[in-house]
Amino acid sequence: MKYVRDIPFKKFVDSHHRAVDEDLAELRRSNEEESVPLIFTETEEILGLLLGLTHPSRILEIGTAHGYSSLFFAKKLPEAHITTIERNPVMVEAARAEFASRKEGERIDFRTGDASEILDELVCRLADADDSEKFDFVFIDAAKSHYREFFEAAERICTKDAIIVCDNILLNGWILEAEGSAARRHRTSIKYMKKFLDYISDRDDLEVSILTGADGLAIIRFINEK
Ligand SMILES: C[S@@+](CC[C@H](N)C(=O)[O-])C[C@H]1O[C@@H](n2cnc3c(N)ncnc32)[C@H](O)[C@@H]1O
Repeated sequence: MKYVRDIPFKKFVDSHHRAVDEDLAELRRSNEEESVPLIFTETEEILGLLLGLTHPSRILEIGTAHGYSSLFFAKKLPEAHITTIERNPVMVEAARAEFASRKEGERIDFRTGDASEILDELVCRLADADDSEKFDFVFIDAAKSHYREFFEAAERICTKDAIIVCDNILLNGWILEAEGSAARRHRTSIKYMKKFLDYISDRDDLEVSILTGADGLAIIRFINEK
């Protein structure tokens, strides 16, 4: 199995990528050098396109790492507020430093701890709130076995016009592994990601686009009654 990041097309796409600014380009370079997880350039371009088309004002992100994608959202949309969740203490410390050293960090509400618990708190606070308080864009990019749980929480705290994007649905190519060591090592993620993709695809009230670019993306929106 050829993993997504080895595919020659990635290099080709990267060579045409234009960063939002030099600061973000440098952050991408340093994250890649230190093998910090971050969105692929192709994912960034699809997210950028969606942000430009929909102009969300309150973005929820699950999975911060060193804060690259949070800062991308904040730079791309100078009026938007971003809530981002991370539980790994090493990542938390690094992201905190990145946010503190930039003016965009002032618009980032950094929640630290397990996403399931933080989402529970957000659901308690926002499930019955007015649309003006809810999220209008959600990016799910953490714990690949928990996408259904994250999605079901997210849909309770976002507006009916929101877009929910789930990253890494191909699990680095492992989603197609039926046997072998990768299939064994990633058995749980593979099982739950397949179930999640079946679940969202089977729901009549969702419009779901599953893309194979980068490490695979699911782009979901609600079909609203006229
Ligand atoms: C792929 S990285 C996020 C990359 C980031 N979105 C970016 O593009 O810069 C996923 C992150 O999710 C975090 N994570 C995984 N499971 C989590 C959970 N249950 N709660 C909170 N954070 C979690 C990991 O520690 C990791 O830093």
